[in-house]
Amino acid sequence: MLVAFSMTTHPDIRLRHTRQLDAATRATIVELCTEAHQADFSRLFFHLPTDGLHFLAYRDDQIVSHVVVTTRWLQAESLPILRGAYVAALATLPAYQKRGYGGAILRELAGNITDYDIAYLEAEEVAFFLQRGWERWRGPCVKRAGDQLSPLPAAQNLLILRLPRTPQLDLDRTLTLESQAKRMW
Ligand SMILES: CC(C)(COP(=O)(O)OP(=O)(O)OC[C@H]1O[C@@H](n2cnc3c(N)ncnc32)[C@H](O)[C@@H]1OP(=O)(O)O)[C@@H](O)C(=O)NCCC(=O)NCCS
Repeated sequence: MLVAFSMTTHPDIRLRHTRQLDAATRATIVELCTEAHQADFSRLFFHLPTDGLHFLAYRDDQIVSHVVVTTRWLQAESLPILRGAYVAALATLPAYQKRGYGGAILRELAGNITDYDIAYLEAEEVAFFLQRGWERWRGPCVKRAGDQLSPLPAAQNLLILRLPRTPQLDLDRTLTLESQAKRMW
């Protein structure tokens, strides 16, 4: 039996660097994120570096789901600095949610960031990620700007995804994130 509105088994997911996105596509991504998160994403492209890697899920010619990866450095206590894939702006248009696009785009992402040491994000929908292999960082998280260390608010759930290059980690120890000067993403 065909399920109304179901997506195809293999959604059309395209990868683009930020610098490759034209103005119309950028505007569509901003609208999509704003609608899904009910928050203002109008400055998304002011903060993204040109080498951000976007995953765009299409239904016919329409972008229905999006996520972007940028490089950020982080350090788990007692380990060398890790090259992190910072995952942000994950969103599926409300009208297309619960049809597998978000899960599919996350799977595609994981398969395409294997040259990073680890992936991480700050999540609201924690359960969605925990069911997909992500793990909560249980120890304290601090941001480092020069010599200054400031704790991340406990309310911010920091989740990590182990990648093939991820070393042995103790999720109860301190995780230090390099600050992004004047950048949200
Ligand atoms: C979180 C978000 C990206 C998920 O996107 P999505 O496209 O709905 O994700 P999926 O469809 O893959 O999965 C969502 C749920 O629908 C279920 N689902 C997937 N296909 C389904 C189908 N055909 N029929 C019924 N349910 C289905 C999944 O099992 C999943 O449930 P689970 O989390 O309990 O396993 C989306 O809800 C969103 O944009 N939310 C607002 C912004 C946000 O919170 N972003 C996350 C950053 S913290």
